[in-house]
Amino acid sequence: MKYKAIIFDLDGVICHTDKFHYLAWKVLADKLGVYFDEEINNRLRGVGRMDSLGIILERYEGTPLSEELKLAYSEEKNEIYKELLKNMSTDDLTKEVKDTLDKLRAEGLKLAIGSSSKNAKIILKQIGLEGYFDEISDGNNITNSKPDPEVFVKASDLLSLQPIDCLVVEDAKAGLEAALACGMDCAAIGDAVNCNLATYNLQSFSNLLSL
Ligand code: BG6
Ligand code: MG
Repeated sequence: MKYKAIIFDLDGVICHTDKFHYLAWKVLADKLGVYFDEEINNRLRGVGRMDSLGIILERYEGTPLSEELKLAYSEEKNEIYKELLKNMSTDDLTKEVKDTLDKLRAEGLKLAIGSSSKNAKIILKQIGLEGYFDEISDGNNITNSKPDPEVFVKASDLLSLQPIDCLVVEDAKAGLEAALACGMDCAAIGDAVNCNLATYNLQSFSNLLSL
């Protein structure tokens, strides 16, 4: 492989948290009387927490919410979400993903996380990957969420590598756009394949081994 490192998105690439995000946002949407379904939830992929709330509030018709209240609501959702994350375990990390990561590392590649989530480390711990990655760039060290490239630029800085040496793996359009915006090649997986934006389209995670 021509890269020195791979930067993986977490949610939707290494493991799947969509259903927990959905359940937690649904509690808040119901409270605010806002229609919310799984299709709208899919639009939140890769998008930061406050921007996600903004998308949910597109259908809100109540009295205008102050920024302070929006922050409080996003924290309320996050508490529910964190409770749900306790249901995750090593069973949420597939053998295919773990074996592929191990083989990539054995080939000498550095492995990093580039996630918009502020809960990335909690999730990695739940699925048994605490301390596994060489570097973690997540929602806690960025000001601008994907499609802004900041999270990936920070990841390559942490790895002490140039963007051209890094490959990003993403399941969301916003993530592919973020990678391309900082000159990184990207591999799409899942629904992101349909965007036709990526350098490579993966049918399966283990396809990374044949790039
Ligand atoms: C991304 C998810 O990884 O993290 C988004 O794909 C989510 O759906 C975002 O909104 C922020 O997550 P968190 O855990 O910081 O609320
Ligand atoms: Mg994702």
